[in-house]
Amino acid sequence: MNNVGILGFGKYVPEKIMSNADWEKLVDTSDEWITTRTGIKERRFVEEGQGTSDLGAEAAKKALKDARLEAKDIELIILATCSADYRVQNCSSLIQKKIGAVNAAAFDIQAACSGFIYSLTVGKALIQSGMYKKILVIGAESISRLVDMQDRNTAILFGDGAAAAVLGEVEEGYGIISSYMGTEGVDDDTLRIKAGGTLYPATVERVENREIYLEMNGTDVFKFAVRALPHATKEAAKNGNVNLADIDILFPHQANLRIIESAAKRLRIPMEKVYLNIHKYGNTSAASIGLAIGDALEEGRLKKGDLIALTGFGAGLTYGSLIMRWSK
Ligand code: ACO
Repeated sequence: MNNVGILGFGKYVPEKIMSNADWEKLVDTSDEWITTRTGIKERRFVEEGQGTSDLGAEAAKKALKDARLEAKDIELIILATCSADYRVQNCSSLIQKKIGAVNAAAFDIQAACSGFIYSLTVGKALIQSGMYKKILVIGAESISRLVDMQDRNTAILFGDGAAAAVLGEVEEGYGIISSYMGTEGVDDDTLRIKAGGTLYPATVERVENREIYLEMNGTDVFKFAVRALPHATKEAAKNGNVNLADIDILFPHQANLRIIESAAKRLRIPMEKVYLNIHKYGNTSAASIGLAIGDALEEGRLKKGDLIALTGFGAGLTYGSLIMRWSK
């Protein structure tokens, strides 16, 4: 069985910064409320005319450069996103065109904020099966386009960005060790965009009722998250025969600082080992764990040989965790 790991990594965030002070001008909120309840100080927003595929393509180009590979070397692109450019046509095809990955097949995975973990897991399995040698896994989102800018409960949490990893065979002792994916299916307003799909197509009335935007029951999601994150991480550790005390860095989905602190406590992982960048980007859904890895690499905090755990949760409700020994 070959060892599958990361050959190259890249991240990209749009330039436009949306601070808590900017939100204060739009809705009845305060920097103090957002900071203490979530840990978020600012986030990035796409500009008019910029799509999720643009963010994903920029991150992908950086990952390819880091891996010293050409776009034509990639055989498959897996994009985790819930904010595709178009409702029909997969967003990964747009990235394939933008980066010139002419030899790659492409598909999207919609598992919301758990998408990056799901995509790495699928990519690893496809390489281990012998079907592919080089796969580009991307998490990219423009959630700012899907939130109701009048809804202070939800909109202030989210931001945009992308991260990309080139997956391939790595040396013995490195790479992805194990993962775990779980789903607790719901069909209610816990966390979804109701209108604009096939069950409730977008009508003038539904647009006027603001049903085309993300709705969320924050308390229910919070309760789910503090349960799901530790569970997924423990299961992934069990699958890989890994002792949680040996984890060097935990990369949680950056949704809410209080959720992360609770998960770390339940896992008995000290906060010094937990990577945080929620203050810079807010919740970027499927891009969030990748953006955290990208920042940790830029800071020199993540190094070859580090044992890391990724853990996330999101709409669906989906959740998952993945453990790997960093191979770059
Ligand atoms: N500014 C000021 N006040 C606010 C704001 C705001 N932006 N938003 C809500 N409030 C108010 C509420 O109206 C409420 O007022 P009330 O008591 O008068 O009714 C009060 O603040 C407290 O609201 P709570 O919902 O109890 O606040 P809580 O401490 O639970 O925090 C939050 C809310 C931050 C949304 C939290 O529940 C949370 O983070 N939940 C998880 C959400 C999440 O992680 N979603 C990501 C999903 S990932 C994906 O797949 C897309």
